[in-house]
Amino acid sequence: MNPVIKLENVSFAYNTNYILENINLNVEQNDFLGIIGPNGGGKTTLLKLIMGFIKPDKGKVEVFGKSSGKSNSRIGYVPQFNQTDKQFPIKAFDVVTMGLGHSKSFLPWNKKSDFGKVTEAMDFVSITDIADNTFGELSGGQQQRCLIARALVSNPGILILDEPTASVDSTVEVDIYKLLKKLNNDMTILLVSHDVGFISSYINKIACVNKEISVHGRDEISFDKISHEAYHGDFSMIQHKCNL
Ligand SMILES: Nc1ncnc2c1ncn2[C@@H]1O[C@H](COP(=O)(O)OP(=O)(O)OP(=O)(O)O)[C@@H](O)[C@H]1O
Ligand SMILES: [Mg+2]
Repeated sequence: MNPVIKLENVSFAYNTNYILENINLNVEQNDFLGIIGPNGGGKTTLLKLIMGFIKPDKGKVEVFGKSSGKSNSRIGYVPQFNQTDKQFPIKAFDVVTMGLGHSKSFLPWNKKSDFGKVTEAMDFVSITDIADNTFGELSGGQQQRCLIARALVSNPGILILDEPTASVDSTVEVDIYKLLKKLNNDMTILLVSHDVGFISSYINKIACVNKEISVHGRDEISFDKISHEAYHGDFSMIQHKCNL
């Protein structure tokens, strides 16, 4: 079967500074790909290339067999959290509705089904009861669930999450990963995380990104190995030799 995401010899620079070099990556249907690496290693940049927000300087990026950007409607995206998001002066329900994007219609009969889609997405992540609360007043975990519902509401084939659990405690983190595992039955998931230990039990592949990329299958995943590649030996338990 063809990969749902394919990067071939991709390089990308902001100005003249290469952030990613010679990236090759195949993501198959129903993969749960963990992406790790140090701050500034290029993880978010990689996601932006996949979504077509930015274009590679070299190589090609294909999503569902088309050049990236042309299949955006089939990707749900939970961006890296920042403080400004918290200040959204709107209700949780409206945040989720935003995820319908261009597919939102002003025709009354479609509006009705949009309402159904939003309710269904909120129900899936268990936040129906806080639909009328202001986004800024929600807990960190509820906000993340809300942003996941926003990404899910368009019924994407791929869900991309950039550090969705960075601002929540470990109990909420486990809940969110369990939720993602459930979603993984129906969709391909890419998840950026710094919690190597946590994600290793959910993912089936891991990509270490630090300007270059090194991808490992489930059977090759070992904590020592990954930590070294991605973090240049910042962790004390490292023994693995890798060029990254
Ligand atoms: N719009 C931009 N213009 C110029 N440089 C940028 C831009 N966005 C990111 N960069 C630079 O590109 C590099 C990679 O950034 P990126 O956000 O992809 O890293 P990351 O791996 O996601 O890091 P983090 O773990 O901190 O989120 C960084 O050095 C960053 O400063
Ligand atoms: Mg990032």
